[in-house]
Amino acid sequence: MAEGEILDMAATSLGVPAAPRHVALIMDGNGRWAAARGLPRFEGHRRGVEALRRAVRAAIDLEISYLTVYSFSAENWSRPREEVQSLLGLLHRFIRNDLAELHANNVRVRVIGARDDLAPEIADLLKEAEQVTEANTGLTLVVAFNYGARQEIAAAARALAQMVAEGRLSPQEIDADAISAQLDTADIPDPDVIIRTSGEQRLSNFLLWQAAYAEFVFLPILWPDFDRAAMVAALEEYAHRERRFGRVEAPRSAKTAS
Ligand code: IPE
Ligand code: IPE
Ligand code: MG
Repeated sequence: MAEGEILDMAATSLGVPAAPRHVALIMDGNGRWAAARGLPRFEGHRRGVEALRRAVRAAIDLEISYLTVYSFSAENWSRPREEVQSLLGLLHRFIRNDLAELHANNVRVRVIGARDDLAPEIADLLKEAEQVTEANTGLTLVVAFNYGARQEIAAAARALAQMVAEGRLSPQEIDADAISAQLDTADIPDPDVIIRTSGEQRLSNFLLWQAAYAEFVFLPILWPDFDRAAMVAALEEYAHRERRFGRVEAPRSAKTAS
């Protein structure tokens, strides 16, 4: 049976979710992949970029609307300087080399994470990727770079406090929607499933607010080994979960959508 049919079958049986609209990936395990082969960590990151290309291709093929990838956390700056430099260099090269192909594939690139303190060349590159692909209508590739969920929520709180201080908002108006609207992900639906490779079972400051009702799939493989088959396996696991959102049975839309 084709993998698409397996997902569709799972989606139409009672209580299990339809194919996910938004998949988020914690791309972890590059260092361990390299160490296991006696290679420098950089080589693991380099092979990690190849796995990222496979993930984007799979997401396009599987008609996923949003793919968010955790590429560099706010806490990753505390790694050794050379490793940080090599990760920045890879991001730079990924955008330089792959932007044209992403654009040709109708991919819209969005970036989440703090931009204020980035070197201008990195900030300009991220802006360019977003601007060039702004009108695309296929997969939205959300790149989480210099991203930390606690920092994102704190920034939202600051923005709301500023509005209150200026008399543009009353404290009673601050509800979950008001906070969501101030996050970097304001116009992006919450992730349906968060997949983490490397066997670690934690969020590491990724999408803490948005993950309220996400399903988690933890894969034992290391990120450089990620491929389409791993993505399909994770989505099949997701398709067997029952999402209830606090209700007593799965919502109708999740039962009937295909
Ligand atoms: C993920 O791999 C890449 C980033 C966090 C940027 P790691 O570099 O964390 O690899 P491990 O977890 O040390 O194996
Ligand atoms: C999370 O991985 C960040 C990215 C994948 C970019 P880490 O390797 O930084 O997370 P911890 O330190 O193991 O929690
Ligand atoms: Mg790691």
